[in-house]
Amino acid sequence: MLLGLGAAGTALGIGAAKAAPTPVETAPVVDNDGTRDRQPFYGPRQSGVVTAQPAAALIVAFDVLGTTRPDLQRLLKNLTKRIAFLMRGGPAATAAIGLPPPDSGLMGPDVYPDNITITVAVGASLFDERFGLAAEKPKHLVTMTRFPNDALVAEQCHGDLLLQICSNTAETNIHALRDILKSFPDLLALRWKMEGFLPPHTLKTLGKDTVRNMLGFKDGTANLDAHDETLMDRIVWTGDQHVEPAWAKNGTYQVVRLIRTLVERWDRTPLGEQQTIIGREKATGAPLGMVNERDTPDYASDPQGLRIPVDAHIRLANPRTPETDKNLILRRPFNYSRGMTNAGQLDMGLLFVSFQADLEAGFITVQRRLDGEPLEEYIKPVGGGYFFVMPGVEHEDSYLGQRLVEGSA
Ligand code: HEM
Repeated sequence: MLLGLGAAGTALGIGAAKAAPTPVETAPVVDNDGTRDRQPFYGPRQSGVVTAQPAAALIVAFDVLGTTRPDLQRLLKNLTKRIAFLMRGGPAATAAIGLPPPDSGLMGPDVYPDNITITVAVGASLFDERFGLAAEKPKHLVTMTRFPNDALVAEQCHGDLLLQICSNTAETNIHALRDILKSFPDLLALRWKMEGFLPPHTLKTLGKDTVRNMLGFKDGTANLDAHDETLMDRIVWTGDQHVEPAWAKNGTYQVVRLIRTLVERWDRTPLGEQQTIIGREKATGAPLGMVNERDTPDYASDPQGLRIPVDAHIRLANPRTPETDKNLILRRPFNYSRGMTNAGQLDMGLLFVSFQADLEAGFITVQRRLDGEPLEEYIKPVGGGYFFVMPGVEHEDSYLGQRLVEGSA
């Protein structure tokens, strides 16, 4: 849900009369340039899960430096305040000229919300002996272990706390991260981070067009409809039907995987082979043998995989049988690109994110089905982790994880 659409943008070209207007002066006034878009912070569930994806993402994992329950409580209380401010927007804090400015200044004196969501999740390591929370660990929360095709880099995996920061621009995300880092020097240490992006012009079509990933294929075609609340209650959010600690209701398991795509090799692969590896037409996104992107693959009438191979990515990921219905996941991935490898290859790929109420039935089962798929020749998972998105903050007197840290004191 988008809360506020902004006032008019900058008043361009007002002032002295001139003979011929410049192109800038004739441009229509921008009613909403996106900077005033706002997502809700208060509510039973956090924003950033079923929220439509904006163009920029920054996923950051931290080690918590505090060692006691009160340390953790102070962190969660103050983190709640910072996030509430950043998602609402307002004047940037100032200080005397002899002091370091409290705000980085990256957004100027007016910190505009820019559609930002900051979603807070916890990792299995938070439930070790430090904070006495072992009994409160969400049932499926474990440390991510290696799948056969993984080449996990220790420095890019796991974490006590995960922030998924999404907004219209990379600058807004970085501003938020610097604000949070500066607020908690004694409580948080950066562990790893990854920035992701999606094409803004495609997003503007509001679902009519589908974004493409680094392999050039439409990504998200068969994703679950995040507007379907009944479906989200069943597949994404933890509720009464799940056996979880009481504090964990209205949360969800978040999987993050940094998956490098070996694009040089992919770009030398024949189109036909690319399409049979994925199971869809590259240009249109239609399932192989069908016409339209939204056509539903019919695997029952193609048991030998003559149209869509039985080991195609989409067929393994979702065989579309009654038995595999419980393995559905909500995907929320972004593209990434970050320089190059020591071997002179492009370092880019998919910042894969999925949400599910049951980590084992969801991501883990789907990934096990994908193990050994032909796509593996072109992808290499290098990092990420498993996390649990905490329930939302219902009102201003409350804070993130309150029932977790106070409930079992
Ligand atoms: C770099 C790695 C990956 C690439 C390039 C990729 C690419 C794609 C593409 C092009 C589609 C078809 C369009 C769509 O429905 O979204 C797709 C579908 C899908 N992918 Fe992936 N994917 C990757 C990793 C993963 C992983 C790690 C998982 C989960 C373990 C996954 C699960 C799915 C699912 C569930 C679908 C929908 C299948 C359906 O319902 O028909 N993908 N992927």
